[in-house]
Amino acid sequence: MKVFSKRVQDLLAQMTPEEKIAQTFQGLVGYYHEEGVKLEDLTGPVSDQTMSESIAWMVGSVINNSSADAEKNRKVQENYLANNRLKIPLLFMTDAIHAYRTVFPIPLALACAFEGKQAKEVAGAVAREARAAGTHVTFAPMLDLTRDPRWGRVTEGPGEDPYLGTIAAKAWVEGFQGEDKQQLKDGEHIASTLKHFAGYGFVAGGRDYDDTDISKRTLNNFVMPAFQAGVDAGAQLVMSAFTSVDGVPVVVNKQMLTDTLRGKMGFDGVVISDYGSVPDAASYHLVEDAAEATKMAVDAGCDIDMMSFWYPNYLRGLYNEGKITMEQLDTMAGNVLTLKENLGLFEDPYVGMSKERTDELYLGKRHREIARTTARESAVLLKNEGVLPIAKDTKTIAVIGPHANDHDLQGAWASFCWNGENVTLAEGIANAVPDTKLIIEEGCGFRESDAKLLEKAVAAASKADVVVLALGEQTEWSGENKNLTDISLPAAQLELAKAVIAANANTVAVLYNGRPLALTELDEIAPAILECWFMGTETGNATADLLFGDYEPTGRLAISFPRCTGQIPVYYNCPIISHLNKSGGSEIPYVSRYLDNSILPLYRFGEGLGYTTFEYSSVSAPDVMRRGETIEATCTVTNTGSREGTETVQLYLRDERAQIVHPGKELKGVQKVTLQPGESRVVTFTIDEDMLTYVHNDGERYADVGDFAVMIGHDSSADDRKYFTLKD
Ligand code: BGC
Repeated sequence: MKVFSKRVQDLLAQMTPEEKIAQTFQGLVGYYHEEGVKLEDLTGPVSDQTMSESIAWMVGSVINNSSADAEKNRKVQENYLANNRLKIPLLFMTDAIHAYRTVFPIPLALACAFEGKQAKEVAGAVAREARAAGTHVTFAPMLDLTRDPRWGRVTEGPGEDPYLGTIAAKAWVEGFQGEDKQQLKDGEHIASTLKHFAGYGFVAGGRDYDDTDISKRTLNNFVMPAFQAGVDAGAQLVMSAFTSVDGVPVVVNKQMLTDTLRGKMGFDGVVISDYGSVPDAASYHLVEDAAEATKMAVDAGCDIDMMSFWYPNYLRGLYNEGKITMEQLDTMAGNVLTLKENLGLFEDPYVGMSKERTDELYLGKRHREIARTTARESAVLLKNEGVLPIAKDTKTIAVIGPHANDHDLQGAWASFCWNGENVTLAEGIANAVPDTKLIIEEGCGFRESDAKLLEKAVAAASKADVVVLALGEQTEWSGENKNLTDISLPAAQLELAKAVIAANANTVAVLYNGRPLALTELDEIAPAILECWFMGTETGNATADLLFGDYEPTGRLAISFPRCTGQIPVYYNCPIISHLNKSGGSEIPYVSRYLDNSILPLYRFGEGLGYTTFEYSSVSAPDVMRRGETIEATCTVTNTGSREGTETVQLYLRDERAQIVHPGKELKGVQKVTLQPGESRVVTFTIDEDMLTYVHNDGERYADVGDFAVMIGHDSSADDRKYFTLKD
């Protein structure tokens, strides 16, 4: 039997089996409004449940409360506690991902900052707002590495690289929860959920919820490192993926949830299923009936059944029949009670909650500043032929495009408590250059051409000194179950771009979108392209900060941008292969190639420009590294441009003698250096043995003796190699 704290053990000793079982399922907040339990709120997937009023007062948690009103939420807890026999507080859980009332950049954008600081600040701000409203648990961060931008949920994750995944995991968890477990009780932090464990980013064809057929090599070496980093950072919950590993849906996969997660990885918190995925396990035809699926989930180690009502419906029967044990019920309930204890809810179920606090935090100065800074630091300058930065004394600027002055800039998961307040691009430009004349034209819809709008846009472009062309996606094009077969810029927007750039070559394309886009045609014509992603509340101001050079773009791509959808998957850390195509083109036969396109992405991983240029010397490193020791690799970076700039120096390693087919290079370190024009700096990376390890086919992580190449450069094309040998 798992050993819990004295408080939790005492509670378990007093609880009936029903009360223990009820801790493992979730209700809707509507049950607990002052008026009483509203069973009519039970619709859709929950309509077949057998929730009774008595069970409702034992339920362990509620999900997706859309009220940001602290007073209303306080009354819900008061009402619940007045009716709960043992006065065990109710947990409020929600998807406070990159937004609560203030909206911050999407997680994929924050990954492009190439450091954890920004995600940590965002998570901290989201946690403060959420906790002030009475939320205790967020279903974030999503750590699903993916190579498929067709998949709408690419927007929620850290991109294609395991190292960036580990940075994201630590940053988000520490931001939400604090660095010390005690901070969960301070009224400013919330518990964080690592999701979706594991391999969900590999859904076939980028179709959300589809099958995942992922090798152990990929799972262990690409997907798992971020989850391990999140566990190590102390995440309180893990959510199982909708999908399967080795043909076994994760929610009923004991090897994944118990042997790997709790055993090997050392996770000690609450495992929660994804929405309705216990019944999903039955839909795969792997089990006889609902009761069997429920038993499998319990045996696998899933503590909370998110919104399916199979735990409440079947656990009691399974227990009565001796198919699950009291020890299992105690472990599940004990894990949930421990989470409540860690959050300080037994001492004060209302800690941190108040209207004064939400009034101060929601869209307040402090969080707007975080929204603006993090947005600025996530944007990636993909191309610049001298258009940027725009001079502040420019007389006339035309702001053109479907995103020129619209508020749809929030990205997925801003829906719960957000009210539509985003500073538009045109507003941000007007704030930055109040004396400049702005002409604002929509030009076209997101997918629809309009001859009149186009004509007006061209006229505006012809009259302006500079054009800012705002293109991209609508929020609803990415996120859960928002997948595409074509990720190129819609034809209507391309038509607008062509006409506007023909009318005025002094044009910068600004993109707001939730996934990498195939931008080949835009790249051919636009002199400058700034990828802003969905930035949230402070979008316009943050974009203007960059456009006018008050700050330079420092973001780097956390995921490759394909030339066309048919190139997917295209990613930098692909294996060394036999029929290598060095140029990437179609001219050489019998190598990895396409006849009609390059195999290389349009914009590679790690790529991103600033407003100055840098040069790198060759890399120095010792010839030998002994096991257990460290070596230093160095390189001199020089600012060769005419203004101060920050370079994101990237360290890549390559195992020259791995025992299994291995990536051609892997990001292992990042340092940002700010240099004055003409200034040089020696940048030093310490390489330790852990950085040379990978999970072998025997399931163990270790480094192979032999040669390694170290590369330091501006992006994943860095190829100046210094070799060293790892020796016993
Ligand atoms: C999603 C999860 C989310 C949950 C609760 C599911 O459909 O896959 O990521 O946390 O819903 O909203």
